[in-house]
Amino acid sequence: MSTVVEHLPTAENPLVEGLERLPVHPTVLVIFGATGDLARRKLLPALYNLAHEGALPERFELIGVARKPDEDFAEMARESIERFSRRQPDPAVLKGLLGEVRYVAGSFDEDSVYVELARVLQEFDKRAGYALNRVFYLSTAPNFFPLIGGKLAAAGLQGGVSAIDRAASGIHRGASGVHPGVSGVYQVPSAATRLVIEKPFGYDLATARALNAELLSVFDESQIFRIDHYLGKETVQNMMALRFANALFEPVWNRNFIDHVEITAAEDLGIEGRAGYYDNAGALRDLVQNHMLQLLSLLAMEPPASFEANPVRNEKVKVLEAIVPPKVEQVDRIAVRAQYGPGVAGGKNVPSYLEEEGVPPDSRTETYAALRLQISNWRWSGVPFYLRTGKRLARKVTEIAVTLKPVPHIALQSSGSVGVQQNQIILMVQPDEGVSVSIGAKIPGARMRIRPVHMEFHYGTSFMSESPEAYERLILDAMRGDATLFTRNDEIEALWGIVDPILTAWRQDTSSPLPQYPAGSSGPSEADALLDEGRQWRRL
Ligand code: BG6
Repeated sequence: MSTVVEHLPTAENPLVEGLERLPVHPTVLVIFGATGDLARRKLLPALYNLAHEGALPERFELIGVARKPDEDFAEMARESIERFSRRQPDPAVLKGLLGEVRYVAGSFDEDSVYVELARVLQEFDKRAGYALNRVFYLSTAPNFFPLIGGKLAAAGLQGGVSAIDRAASGIHRGASGVHPGVSGVYQVPSAATRLVIEKPFGYDLATARALNAELLSVFDESQIFRIDHYLGKETVQNMMALRFANALFEPVWNRNFIDHVEITAAEDLGIEGRAGYYDNAGALRDLVQNHMLQLLSLLAMEPPASFEANPVRNEKVKVLEAIVPPKVEQVDRIAVRAQYGPGVAGGKNVPSYLEEEGVPPDSRTETYAALRLQISNWRWSGVPFYLRTGKRLARKVTEIAVTLKPVPHIALQSSGSVGVQQNQIILMVQPDEGVSVSIGAKIPGARMRIRPVHMEFHYGTSFMSESPEAYERLILDAMRGDATLFTRNDEIEALWGIVDPILTAWRQDTSSPLPQYPAGSSGPSEADALLDEGRQWRRL
């Protein structure tokens, strides 16, 4: 019996009404690191929600690979889904999803793991009577990425099937046939093999290049899907809709009208027991190199000729390449780092970063980073982009504030219109998802007094639905082979190229005092120096 995910009929499941169902080739998803934190918190719940919505391919198989021997993977997956899914799981859907999962135990360097994996994959193909797509999801520590890539290739699993496998199974990958998919009759195209790589992709520019080279020696770029989960967020994808589906914004989206842009990714939580990872990473690697620069590139890119993967990524790469990285000796003029001290968060006293479990007492790892960047191209020349991120700040908020230039002449001044302020377009990524535009309006009354008011769009009220988790969209796109929301090889190197000199400067500076900020505050006062005169960071 094959695993055929049972979907609730639409009549019983009003949530699926109006949802798009995209055809997906029958697929087997292999999660390396299947018992890890990411799989439990994000990947398995995302798979459940896709199943619940009827968005998984009709024939879908799941294999977990991890070191733990004798793991009851189905039971672990069920518990994780019950604990972390955004919706209460339906027992029938759970059974359909997990009824026939497989688990391959062993460490990632053992050849036997790949032999067993190949056997199970072949069994699935045989049972289906045609070749299923294979998606290998590497949700492991980054040092395993090249190892697993190489081992998959050595086992003949990098795409196509070895002559021996073909002879043994009697199956030709690329066989075509007809498979009834979720939206009617679906032609089965050639089966594909894809590799999904979690972050962090590299530790700096040199290691990212080396990892690209290793993976690309065995896989084709079109098979590689580098994750940045911010790209899976609805509000981030909406940046393209806002810019390119409205005539309202594009005419002002340039240096003639925009004064400056501020991108904030603030978190109220600390490092949540992740000292081992975080102390080696720091805020610049953890948030800026990936998520924040992705937000910047979507905000600043030129309109792509189409919304397919390569036209979109070409435009993003052009923006990243137009950011001139600072020279190492100039870094302190454009970047500030800091570490949180003790303070109060959520009404509780919380320890400093250095007091967190597992953090070395002399650590100089930054938990806060702020930058001032310039994009040297025709559209953006002279417009500063200010970025800041940090752990243990006053609240969790990710937003982009685009501030327009002041009006050239305030004729209303004599009437006391002190409230005239620059227009702002705020893209609210989370937690309050939406867009807000501030405009000056007259305060009712006899005098001409002005103050800013806000025109707002909120996802919750406009669409009356909860946004899917980023991983739902990304897993589905990887299975469909749509790489638009994944980072390309040249893009990942361009991202690292921007932060690399800052990493170098901070690594070399082992003695100057590291700025501090109290936990629960808005960050260090040193970051104010990055802003040009008369400007302030938005209140957190
Ligand atoms: C991850 C970082 O990539 O993003 C975490 O490693 C961070 O440190 C997280 O907390 C933030 O993601 P989100 O979706 O909660 O903003």
